Amino acid sequence: MTATASLAASTPAGQPVGIFDSGIGGLSVVRHIRAQLPQENLLYFADSGFAPYGDKTDKFVIERSLAIADFLLAAGCKALVIACNTATASAVHLLRERYPQLPIVGIEPGLKPAAAVTRTRTVGVMATDRTLSSPKFQLLHQQLTLSTGVRFVTQACSGLADLIEEGELESEKTVALVQRYVSALVAERADTLVLGCTHYPFVQSVIESAARKAGADSIHVVDTGIAVARQLTRLLDHNGIRRDEAEGTLEAFTSGDAAALSRRFDRLLHISSPVREIV
Ligand code: DGL
Repeated sequence: MTATASLAASTPAGQPVGIFDSGIGGLSVVRHIRAQLPQENLLYFADSGFAPYGDKTDKFVIERSLAIADFLLAAGCKALVIACNTATASAVHLLRERYPQLPIVGIEPGLKPAAAVTRTRTVGVMATDRTLSSPKFQLLHQQLTLSTGVRFVTQACSGLADLIEEGELESEKTVALVQRYVSALVAERADTLVLGCTHYPFVQSVIESAARKAGADSIHVVDTGIAVARQLTRLLDHNGIRRDEAEGTLEAFTSGDAAALSRRFDRLLHISSPVREIV
């Protein structure tokens, strides 16, 4: 991959923030970043040509994450957001090693905020198989179980990110798959569900109705996208590189189909953004 530094800017603050995900899931994080940091220039990389990451090997996800980070850095990014739980679990430590000076924000399932709100003391965690089986998640799971006494029941949601990636947000297939996963968690008495994959906020209403259908009186859904935007704000301020000029721009790259990503921007974020295909 080669970078086209169309946003190369003279001051460090004017340089863009690089954000990536296996596909369109990271757009659920981008909407929080844009709300909180409207003046930042953003470069988004959707690795749709290689999605989903959730059923790939650790090695594969690491290789993709390093290649994309290199690309975004070559394009002049001043900070990096890994808007993907799966890539964070596999590669955040390696990216921090490779770029020790770079502000990097990862995302992980929100077990802590979920523990603070559950009444049944049982939390359901929906994520990819790769995230749930990662040592990083298992350590978090163990620590939070010990420190809060809450029971975390995990559910690998195989196939769900793929359907969302295809734009099937409310199709019969998606509703049935969500119902299967959510019913299993409600049957365990979970009253709080953690969205441990950045694709899932796009089907949050489907998840909530599945929980009601499965007999939950009330359900609390935890999405950590907003916490990522807050952490990015803190890091930019701390490093004195927050941009405070006019409204920022958003440009996108994809290893998949540019027209498809363009349509997702329209549908999910209600914005049109230039998209370039990267081989
Ligand atoms: N959106 C990603 C995550 O947060 C992964 C989905 C996938 O590619 O399997 O985990």
